[in-house]
Amino acid sequence: MTIKIGLLVGSLASDSINRQLANALTKLAPAELEIVDIDYSKLALYSHDADANYPAEALDFKASLADVDGILVVTPEYNRSIPGALKNALDWASRPWGQNVVAGKPSAMIGASIGAIGTAVAQSHLRTVLSFLDSDVMAQPEGYLTITPGFFTADGEIADASTSSFLHSWMQAFAKHVSRNAA
Ligand code: FNR
Repeated sequence: MTIKIGLLVGSLASDSINRQLANALTKLAPAELEIVDIDYSKLALYSHDADANYPAEALDFKASLADVDGILVVTPEYNRSIPGALKNALDWASRPWGQNVVAGKPSAMIGASIGAIGTAVAQSHLRTVLSFLDSDVMAQPEGYLTITPGFFTADGEIADASTSSFLHSWMQAFAKHVSRNAA
């Protein structure tokens, strides 16, 4: 059975280390996972003024999320929290009131930083947001990655064998989490 996963990368940067991590994770994913990138870069800043007439980009974004069995967030930490663009996207996903498309979707998060704590604070904030949105957030294993030169090979693989093995098992745990909790 195919399990469809919506990927939200928390960085919009063209050379994002989290995008590179997401690409590497996709390669390490168990065969039953179909991972689709959900682009939220065209969303305006959310205001409840839009609730009466959601713009097409937001309807498309919500439809993409509604269509998946689970959500994978790969995010950097910005100023000890999650990037504003990612929070904005989750705000669009949650509204109008009563039409939150994240509700009931199993999710997991992982992140890469150049800093020593590897997005731990951002993930703590994101866990609060996703839990509030009634997502079943994977508790363990956690994944906090500090990126140093040579972390990725030239062709985008994870250079260190033990890190690669950990990320492989992390994706297996995520697949189990989604199959256990998907509606
Ligand atoms: C950062 N960075 C950062 N790193 C960290 O570990 N904790 C933090 O709070 C922050 N804050 C922060 C704010 C802003 C606005 C930027 C641009 C960066 C550094 C961050 O880890 C680094 O830029 C990563 O490369 C960001 O991930 P992407 O965008 O490359 O995926």
